[in-house]
Amino acid sequence: MATRRTPAGTRYSDIAERLERALRGGVYRPGARLPSVRSLCRTWTASITTVVAAYRLLERRGLVEARAQSGHYALVPGAPEPVVERTRLVPTDVSLGQLALLVMKDSRDPRLAPFGPAMPDPELLPNRELRRILAAVARSGAGLDAYGVPPGLDVLRTAVARRAAAIGCPLRADGIVTTAGGLEALTLALRATCRAGQTVAIESPMYYGLLQSIEALGLRVIEIPGHPRYGISLEVLREALDEHPIAAVVAMPAGSSPLGSRSGEESTRELVELLTARQVPLIEDDVLGDLALDGVRQPPAKAFDRAGLVLWCSSLSKTAAPGLRVGWIAAGRFQAAVEHLQFTNAVGPSPLNQLVAAGLLEGGLYERVLRRTRSVYAARTIDMAEAVLASFPSGTRVTRPSVGFSLWVELPPTADAQTIYAAALRDGIALTPGPLFSAKLRYRHALRLCASRWGDTWRPALQRLGKLVARR
Ligand SMILES: Cc1ncc(COP(=O)(O)O)c(C=O)c1O
Repeated sequence: MATRRTPAGTRYSDIAERLERALRGGVYRPGARLPSVRSLCRTWTASITTVVAAYRLLERRGLVEARAQSGHYALVPGAPEPVVERTRLVPTDVSLGQLALLVMKDSRDPRLAPFGPAMPDPELLPNRELRRILAAVARSGAGLDAYGVPPGLDVLRTAVARRAAAIGCPLRADGIVTTAGGLEALTLALRATCRAGQTVAIESPMYYGLLQSIEALGLRVIEIPGHPRYGISLEVLREALDEHPIAAVVAMPAGSSPLGSRSGEESTRELVELLTARQVPLIEDDVLGDLALDGVRQPPAKAFDRAGLVLWCSSLSKTAAPGLRVGWIAAGRFQAAVEHLQFTNAVGPSPLNQLVAAGLLEGGLYERVLRRTRSVYAARTIDMAEAVLASFPSGTRVTRPSVGFSLWVELPPTADAQTIYAAALRDGIALTPGPLFSAKLRYRHALRLCASRWGDTWRPALQRLGKLVARR
């Protein structure tokens, strides 16, 4: 079940996003006066409070200046941001090989500067509270005496349904299947909607775990460019849908990785309507959406789903407990298929872990963790982005993410990310090379840097990385 209701408090971020788009697109030159609050209220049928809140958000982002008695004025737009070029819309195979696993293993080496795998800062996780919940579950004796049969434990599904309602996406608990993390949810979604040899359209750059699943399932891929702030290009997606039979679309409208974009509600609704009209399922990766750095959590695309065609996939891995391996999927009309596929693979996720996850989601702890971590990651991503620009050769571009804790760094075109990855490792620095985020191993001159643990301790390592890039 879904609703069209817009949760109070998110409309202003939508208006801010539209104005930001216009500002960045050069509609208002630096110094130009922006439309008055009253005229925007009329244009967007919004209240004065909403429009004022939108302007405040833009002020905080350094894009707009308020002048007493005079209105709002455009400031100089920030440094140029990375650009994801479109490529020919031809289905291709995926062949990432072993690289993703090698990169993931870097997270286990404490000697490396932690710019590699996108892991939350362990210091910010609610470890003490989780241990308390785990101890209570252990005392109760529950969770060890039975299999976790699909669709999963009611107590967790109810907690997830409550959380979904709180972010503008009312769902029934019986429409949710618990999984062993976000990747299992995404893989089940692919298996339920596509058959080997079919083509999926994916937002690009894309999380390499999903690309590996696509590779293992023998699917083909068309990459649709993402924008560092507005997400998947609907224009290019429409073209791909016109030109090719597409079995499913994978996108991250409420929070993308590695770009850190958030598409905005209007564009997300448009995405759902576009796919519903063509009866194409949308696999929504929403593992990052809760880490909206300005605290404005965008409802997932599932909130706009009338037809049961959106498969909403999320987890607790980036926010609160990577080691639990607990996630979920709300698969709409594909639920029965998802349950069956999960069962035939490994029966179902561990009940013990599901009980701990339920304890985390209940009682306000999860919200408190989000409040604490979002503001820390907001400061760290901005500071690390500035440090990248200061240490890397000129021509480098870097994202200012709206969600998550990753930076996408576009290096000058002569740089080769794979060579830089190998050299950086020898120098004690972990990072993720750009080609891992593309089926066609594009993004040869891009890197993803994880900013979750950024601080002065790591500044010398980043400066060394900048020098290393300059030498290549
Ligand atoms: C964008 C994105 N989606 C999905 C996942 C997988 O989530 P999980 O770790 O819960 O399996 C990740 C993990 O890195 C991710 O970055």
